[in-house]
Amino acid sequence: MLTIRDLTLKGKRVLVRVDFNVPMDADKNITDDIRIRMALPTINHVLEEGGKLILCSHMGRPGGKRVMDFSLAPVAAHLAEILGREVKLAPDCIGEESEALVSAMQDGDVVMLENLRFYEQETNNDADFAEQIARMADVYINDAFAVSHRAHASVVGIPAHVAEKAAGFLLQTEMDFFHKAMHTPVRPLVALVGGAKVSSKLGALHNMLDKVDTMIIGGAMANTFLKSQGVDMGASKIEEDLLESAREFVQEAEKKGVKLYLPVDFVAADRFAPDAVVKNVTFRDVPSEWMALDIGPASTSYFQEAMADARTIVWNGPMGAFEMDAFARGTMAMCQAVASSHALSVTGGGDSNAAVKKSGEAANISYMSTGGGAFLRLMEGKTLPGVEVLEAD
Ligand code: 3PG
Repeated sequence: MLTIRDLTLKGKRVLVRVDFNVPMDADKNITDDIRIRMALPTINHVLEEGGKLILCSHMGRPGGKRVMDFSLAPVAAHLAEILGREVKLAPDCIGEESEALVSAMQDGDVVMLENLRFYEQETNNDADFAEQIARMADVYINDAFAVSHRAHASVVGIPAHVAEKAAGFLLQTEMDFFHKAMHTPVRPLVALVGGAKVSSKLGALHNMLDKVDTMIIGGAMANTFLKSQGVDMGASKIEEDLLESAREFVQEAEKKGVKLYLPVDFVAADRFAPDAVVKNVTFRDVPSEWMALDIGPASTSYFQEAMADARTIVWNGPMGAFEMDAFARGTMAMCQAVASSHALSVTGGGDSNAAVKKSGEAANISYMSTGGGAFLRLMEGKTLPGVEVLEAD
């Protein structure tokens, strides 16, 4: 796969697919600009090399309609502020006006195309739509790791129509860290997996069984694994239809010699609310009407021990409902454990990254992926369409 450094950019129209799908508050203030900042090395490189920089991105899921609530205008303004130079927002991502704006560009200019998902042709990977955008570019760069699992027009369609294409620095960094952690890890390799649902992570869990030395499972998904082992989880969230799969998974881990750690105690509550009645219970004592909403102190120590000699840690998914302070302690403790470890640590997924941020430990994690779905797809052992297309020739 070529990377942006392999191409000559001077005087060329360089179309960079970024993922600027960033969270905003009700007043359209960007509440987390990490995806924008992580694209800066590529953006600055194009500008330093004297290219004409055309940025394109999606924002949210406007369903193929021009819904101005999903405009990229706040993002263009924010980027202009960071760069200290003008970022012109095209009124659309295709059409005469956008093409005219691009034709008038000088080397070093920046134009951002409006939200790609104002057209359903983006998500449908429509060839004509892709071609209309592609004709505005001489070079195509994918720096949008977080959307590279989607076979959308801007991810796989446009590069097919542009002569020169390559990965940007962010895409390259994401793939390198993932490769280092999962394919050539310094061992022991420990996976820490949490989150609400077994169903959304079963593929990833199975794939990782062939790769990791130790697997720690927490979060609501651990309830289903524990119940599959005969533990009474009270009124905790359980995926009844996955009990058999969970049972098989535990057997498979044993067969493969992977050390599997499940919680041994919980912070349980009489309901899921900030003012719920809360107590610590062992896995044998979850009251029948209560639910487990965080791992307890004994699980925290047990998991810390499991990570103590790790040389590589991959983490996806929180240990409990950390958005409520009453149930955040277990996840915060894992943030500290991962951050203080000497292992190469890679985290991915919106929730784990939000937890790391909340803990104040972000600077002590080796790499926090900008991807959610894309990261999970790699954990499943699958390739990303956006990467495949760059590797095609
Ligand atoms: C993300 O936020 O995970 C990416 O921007 C992809 O968004 P999508 O799930 O709407 O395709």
